[in-house]
Amino acid sequence: MGESHEEMLRHYEPGGLLPRIVAGLQALGKDLDSVTHEDLAPADEFHSAGRSATRALVELAKIPPGSRVLDVGSGLGGPARYLAATLGCDVTGIDLSPEFCGLANALSRMTRLSDRTRFQAGDALELPFAASSFDVVWTIQMQMNIRDKRRLYSGIARVLRPGGLFVCQEICAGNGEPIELPVPWASRPNQSHLADAESLRGLIRGAGLLERTWRDITADIVAARKAQQAKAQASGASGSSAPPPLGMHLVLGEQAAVKMSNSGRNTDAGRTVFIQGVFDKPG
Ligand SMILES: C[S@@+](CC[C@H](N)C(=O)[O-])C[C@H]1O[C@@H](n2cnc3c(N)ncnc32)[C@H](O)[C@@H]1O
Repeated sequence: MGESHEEMLRHYEPGGLLPRIVAGLQALGKDLDSVTHEDLAPADEFHSAGRSATRALVELAKIPPGSRVLDVGSGLGGPARYLAATLGCDVTGIDLSPEFCGLANALSRMTRLSDRTRFQAGDALELPFAASSFDVVWTIQMQMNIRDKRRLYSGIARVLRPGGLFVCQEICAGNGEPIELPVPWASRPNQSHLADAESLRGLIRGAGLLERTWRDITADIVAARKAQQAKAQASGASGSSAPPPLGMHLVLGEQAAVKMSNSGRNTDAGRTVFIQGVFDKPG
């Protein structure tokens, strides 16, 4: 593993996440024997607008039930479990972080979804799968960590079967101003490789994938953040200033507050935009 991968893992892996998630579930009064993927969603959907964005992406892509899905940069496995639980998909996740993959497998066992989801550590640039082995390749907010995007999308196109779907939600550069760091995906400038939306779109098409949908969802992401802030303020007004038992702050570690506020400020200042895209691999 190269130095940059080690640095990347230092950014992402907070350590000791499972006990904190279990404590959060217990604080919410959940019975650990009957935890569902919905119970975990506040803590295991590691991207902007969380579960609501995953739901919107599934609706946009019209993913066929029972699809064999590869989730590239699968994080803690929340989106994968949603696809497995709601559509009966069979999902393989790959993520650079061994800690996240171990946790994702543990959370799938906890929610009785291990027969339809599995997570393995690996690099998105070296997908260890045979050509044409998936009906759908899905990725949410991972490519910002990848400099060589051409190689990323050519690998994705290779493992997708002809007639299959590529589905993504991504953060892109907006007005070209440098972003404020740290953010949830990077602590240092050499960890964040934002392309502008048109360049990213061109790179995906350049891998031989045909565009079905490409939409800017920045306004939805901003609205979701404002709704969450209003909810937090309301619970502060009623006397509780502590974060909720389960939330992204667990995953984002000690700098959670500054990462989230920089991320919001970057978007509000036009430095970042969000897109969702769906592409077909020609049959
Ligand atoms: C912001 S998180 C998104 C996780 C997940 N897609 C989700 O939406 O819940 C980005 C993820 O990309 C992973 N990642 C970063 N670089 C990667 C690489 N080269 N190969 C595979 N995964 C990578 C990180 O470990 C992290 O889990």
